[in-house]
Amino acid sequence: MNSDVDSVKDLKIDYEKVVNNVSEAVIILQGDRIISANNPAVKLFSGGRQSPVAGTPLSQFIDMNPLSQLHDRIHQVIYDKLSNNQMKLSITSWEGLMTPVEVLINSIDPSDQTLVQLTLWDLSGQKAIEEKLMQSEKLSVIGKLSAGILHEIKNPLTSIKGFLQLMQKEPVINRNYIDIILGEVNQIEKIAGELLHFSKPKPQSFELQDLTVIAREAMFLFETLALKNQITLDLQSGNSEHLIFGDGTQLRQVFINLIKNAIEASEDGGKVTIVLSSCHSQERVMIHNTGKEIPESLLKKLGKSFITTKENGTGLGLMVSYTIIGNHRGMVTVKSAKGKGTSFLITFPKTQK
Ligand SMILES: Nc1ncnc2c1ncn2[C@@H]1O[C@H](COP(=O)(O)OP(=O)(O)OP(=O)(O)O)[C@@H](O)[C@H]1O
Ligand SMILES: [Mg+2]
Repeated sequence: MNSDVDSVKDLKIDYEKVVNNVSEAVIILQGDRIISANNPAVKLFSGGRQSPVAGTPLSQFIDMNPLSQLHDRIHQVIYDKLSNNQMKLSITSWEGLMTPVEVLINSIDPSDQTLVQLTLWDLSGQKAIEEKLMQSEKLSVIGKLSAGILHEIKNPLTSIKGFLQLMQKEPVINRNYIDIILGEVNQIEKIAGELLHFSKPKPQSFELQDLTVIAREAMFLFETLALKNQITLDLQSGNSEHLIFGDGTQLRQVFINLIKNAIEASEDGGKVTIVLSSCHSQERVMIHNTGKEIPESLLKKLGKSFITTKENGTGLGLMVSYTIIGNHRGMVTVKSAKGKGTSFLITFPKTQK
């Protein structure tokens, strides 16, 4: 009997030794919010502050965002036995610096549901690689679209040249010509602005975004390509704002990738429809195209890197888009059926103004 007690004690000491020596931060919670114990690595996330006294609420020690979702997930994992026990969060240090982290939620002892272990990984390094990948994927899309975009610039330039030549021949300045020229210059300025804004590398910055504006701007880049392939582009947004909290450039990248795929999958004379809608806690984006369905075997692989059926495809468009959607706490589902075409449905958590 005594030896059993000793071995339990030894195990406890071993457990503490292991936890104290790992580089991941480990926090043991009593319930879903009170700290019961933690290891030294937690200091990295708390801006070097001393270990919390047992009994301190988690929120007073580490500024985790969004905290309410962490509480919800702890409940789902511990009480509802949800199998997905990982989630991404960010931690704001006292200097205001944001660190992306991955949190693993585990029950320490299945017979005692009040003790919960959180293991935290710093994702900053991974984020930097992710950002580089997003940037190179963005430039690759622009490269592929450049023929169409040059066309968008060449058309107004031809018209400007024509009106300037007319003005050269006429003795009096025709104000109508000036208005037309100005209109065309505005068009070129808009295209150049849109491209520059999109291609510039920028650190991730989350602000209030209207999905209607983003969808419209992304569609604008595909007008020529759609016209050339006689594909109708249709945006249905119910004329209302669809607000989410996010990074404008990254969200634009998602729309550009999905619209591009939808146009490429539509046969000539087909239709690409984007429908934006709101439901209680979510903003929804549906991008639908007519054309051939996606085979079941490919459907399962969508979102993995280098999956492509196109001669010049990188197979990165969906992977990058799914990563961005995940960073925005969104979800994607794909539906594809014979005779019905394909729909990508994205849901984002709604934001109030
Ligand atoms: N709307 C769609 N309809 C049918 N198939 C699609 C659709 N969207 C994606 N796919 C399939 O998924 C594959 C992967 O798409 P993804 O955007 O990741 O790469 P890609 O389009 O092949 O290459 P890139 O984006 O570099 O041009 C495509 O090759 C295509 O087979
Ligand atoms: Mg693609």
